[in-house]
Amino acid sequence: MKKKGLFITFEGIDGSGKTTQYNLLRGRLRRRGLDPVCVREPGSTVVGEEIRSILLSSDDRPMTLLTEALLYAAARSQLVREVIVPALEGGKVVLCDRFLDSSLAYQGYAGGLGVDTVMAVNAAAVRGIRPHLTLVFDLSVSEALRRERGRKADRIESRGAEYLQRVREYYLELARKEPDRVRVIPAARDIAEIEADVYREVSEGLAALGIDGRG
Ligand code: ADP
Ligand code: TYD
Repeated sequence: MKKKGLFITFEGIDGSGKTTQYNLLRGRLRRRGLDPVCVREPGSTVVGEEIRSILLSSDDRPMTLLTEALLYAAARSQLVREVIVPALEGGKVVLCDRFLDSSLAYQGYAGGLGVDTVMAVNAAAVRGIRPHLTLVFDLSVSEALRRERGRKADRIESRGAEYLQRVREYYLELARKEPDRVRVIPAARDIAEIEADVYREVSEGLAALGIDGRG
């Protein structure tokens, strides 16, 4: 990829601690003198947030799996063009809480739409943009559900633990297939231990690109 910045994505099942680590890394990079561009999927653009509210609303209006995949791809397309590409071209570090791998895992593999179909739906949306580094926060489904209890456990439980188990399997298989890009971070540990692993992985990526901030 000819882009100059560093594109880092955060993946894992719901409740695996991604967003906690994304926020910690953002703070750490800022203290290092970098100015990371931080976004989440679906959302982080005006139209993307509107699509998010359709996708994540708790009423159970009927929606086919393909419609769901197309909506995630539409939000992603907007985010790639409006935010991610300009940021990378400007040499920025981009942190993204979920990206294409989420659609492949949730809609493609766990949901049963098929990984190839979801890839095809997303081809135009991502425009060949691929993360340099993808961190997969790996946690058992039972522990994730325990952490999420009282928060959004209803949505997760409505999909079922087996669904999330398949999502987890997809991510682990992805890491085996693409070890250079995808790193598994064991997430059943203290927040500070996980943060140290994340920072080590990211520092390697920054060093490889010659981005160092203030140290
Ligand atoms: P995700 O973004 O993957 O859904 P969050 O970062 O929102 O996960 O974390 C889910 C819940 O688990 C939150 O209540 C958060 O405070 C808690 N949590 C995050 N990391 C840990 C950890 N390492 N150990 C225990 N609880 C955690
Ligand atoms: P969110 O509340 O952001 O969850 P999390 O804290 O786990 O990131 O909701 C995002 C939900 O959308 C999550 O359940 C995963 C799902 N999702 C997909 O199914 N496909 C996708 O392509 C993306 C980006 C998210």
